[in-house]
Amino acid sequence: MHLDGKKALVTGASRGIGRAIALAFADEGADVAITARKVESLGETADEIKAKGRKAYPIAWDVLDIPKVDERLAEVKENLGGLDIVVNNAGVNKLPKDHPNPTPEAEWDYVMDINLKAVYFICKGVAKLMEEQKSGVIINIASDAGLRNAPHPYGISKWGVVGFTEGLAKQMAPHGVRVNAIAPGPVATDMMGWHPGKPLDAPNLPLKRYSLPEEIAGVAVFLASENSTAVVGDAILINSNNT
Ligand SMILES: NC(=O)c1ccc[n+]([C@@H]2O[C@H](COP(=O)([O-])OP(=O)(O)OC[C@H]3O[C@@H](n4cnc5c(N)ncnc54)[C@H](OP(=O)(O)O)[C@@H]3O)[C@@H](O)[C@H]2O)c1
Repeated sequence: MHLDGKKALVTGASRGIGRAIALAFADEGADVAITARKVESLGETADEIKAKGRKAYPIAWDVLDIPKVDERLAEVKENLGGLDIVVNNAGVNKLPKDHPNPTPEAEWDYVMDINLKAVYFICKGVAKLMEEQKSGVIINIASDAGLRNAPHPYGISKWGVVGFTEGLAKQMAPHGVRVNAIAPGPVATDMMGWHPGKPLDAPNLPLKRYSLPEEIAGVAVFLASENSTAVVGDAILINSNNT
């Protein structure tokens, strides 16, 4: 197993990509703290992690609650008995067709605060802990929208995540902490309006279909594992029509 005995935190693990990453980490031997705004929404993911023989620590944590970041991280570390891997996955989007133009200020704030501000402050809290222990991995879930021109808040927020990931990676690498991002194209989740039974077809994408959450999770396992010790500050593009 690639993550045997590791202690991981995955934000936004009630469904979609975060849930798939939490389950894949458990498959690879990690204990996993999982977050969402309501703890009830984490029950199924927690049960599946436990069924794999790993510890699950579900925690109600709205990532917008910036003043509580250090307290939450300390709680996770204490309950898992360490913190080796953090995945900043929680995020929000509205499909571009639903965006009024220009974006109302309240929507700008909502998207930027969850997708970028929260990632910044959680990363800073985690970096402090990992710098002390001189080891750790941070993975930020960006988007292919963060690697091309960005006319709407979602793309701008993810562009920020990609740039911050690169900057933080350079700061933290000398301290034994690796920071990277994953930049998926469209993935079959609620966020994309996908539901079980709906076709995966997406003719514009290289694979001619949406990626699956499990395929993003596979890349997260790689980035969290000893198989990627020289990958630093990257944003790995997945099945995107950017290319
Ligand atoms: N799906 C795609 O095509 C795609 C492509 C590229 C990148 N991404 C990125 O991948 C990540 C996951 O996307 P997804 O498709 O899996 O989305 P999703 O199915 O909508 O799930 C989003 C997750 O984020 C959590 N979340 C949202 N707001 C939160 C908040 N304020 N505090 C804590 N948790 C919050 C949700 O939890 P609750 O609602 O239960 O609180 C849920 O667990 C996002 O960062 C997204 O931008 C997605």
